[in-house]
Amino acid sequence: MLQRPRRNRKSEVIRNMVQETQVTTHDFIFPLFLIDGKNKTSEVSSMPGIFRYSPDLILKEIESCMKLGIKAFDVFPSLADKYKDKRATESFNKKGLYLKTLTQIKKEFPDACIMTDVAMDPYSSDGHDGLVKNGEIVNDETLNILAKMAVAQAECGIDIIGPSDMMDGRVGVIREALDDHGFTNVSIMSYTAKYASAFYGPFRDALDSAPKFGDKKTYQMNPANSKEALIEAHLDTQEGADFLMVKPAMSYLDVIKDLSQKFDLPIAAYNVSGEYAMVKAAAAKGWIDGDRVRDEILLSMKRAGASVILTYFAKEWALKNR
Ligand code: PBG
Repeated sequence: MLQRPRRNRKSEVIRNMVQETQVTTHDFIFPLFLIDGKNKTSEVSSMPGIFRYSPDLILKEIESCMKLGIKAFDVFPSLADKYKDKRATESFNKKGLYLKTLTQIKKEFPDACIMTDVAMDPYSSDGHDGLVKNGEIVNDETLNILAKMAVAQAECGIDIIGPSDMMDGRVGVIREALDDHGFTNVSIMSYTAKYASAFYGPFRDALDSAPKFGDKKTYQMNPANSKEALIEAHLDTQEGADFLMVKPAMSYLDVIKDLSQKFDLPIAAYNVSGEYAMVKAAAAKGWIDGDRVRDEILLSMKRAGASVILTYFAKEWALKNR
């Protein structure tokens, strides 16, 4: 035998030397849930270890993550029903919880990279990402709302806009609106291949944002399709996206790999709430070693070609691996 692959596995030093992929805190965007109030936290019951924070405590959480080397955050608001309506008007309310807190965050932590979510669901009385008319999620009329939402967020000084709504043409419309308002430096991380997935369940618990009727299959992608992700990626690239995201991540590593090989833009993987919950549940039962499984999952996303990972594991990874 001339080739003995085991020689490159014989010691820790050599194994580290030939390791092809590394995970670091630089790769992470840590999603955070925001609630109203003061000095308030509430744990998401289906996501042990993940909390909703009131504005004062979200600032503290960001500070403690920054010390661990996590510098990028994606903030999601959890709103009471009274703030929700058909047209998601609360999403432009400068005095509202979300925009006010975003401004505060950027003021206190100008070096942090803050990403926001653009979609109607947290503010919509229908619980859908787009405007609902006669039971239909209408595309083009939604675009104006999304563009307005993106500009309102950019006005808070945020760094990356994350359209997660899956309406056709939204990246282009948002790019144009941002540029028209002088926000040429605000980036867009498009949820390019976002699937209609059962893995979002715990997130919808966290925000109380589940659809009030039907499902999201007329706008989110069919889990059976990967060529369709290429169509979305072509469109997002032409429309001015800066990052292409695949979501969920674990069951879609083939899509991450495909996009990373065929497109030059950086690929982001969203390691979603259900993926987190599964690991936590099995680990709590003692059925798997949660720490090792977590590290392996994150590594697999990098290996598949993601350069950015949105993950609820960000903070604990940093705590355990630094
Ligand atoms: C909102 C949005 C969702 C997630 C991120 N942005 C939920 C959905 O589309 O229903 C899911 C994130 C997760 O599950 O961790 N459009």
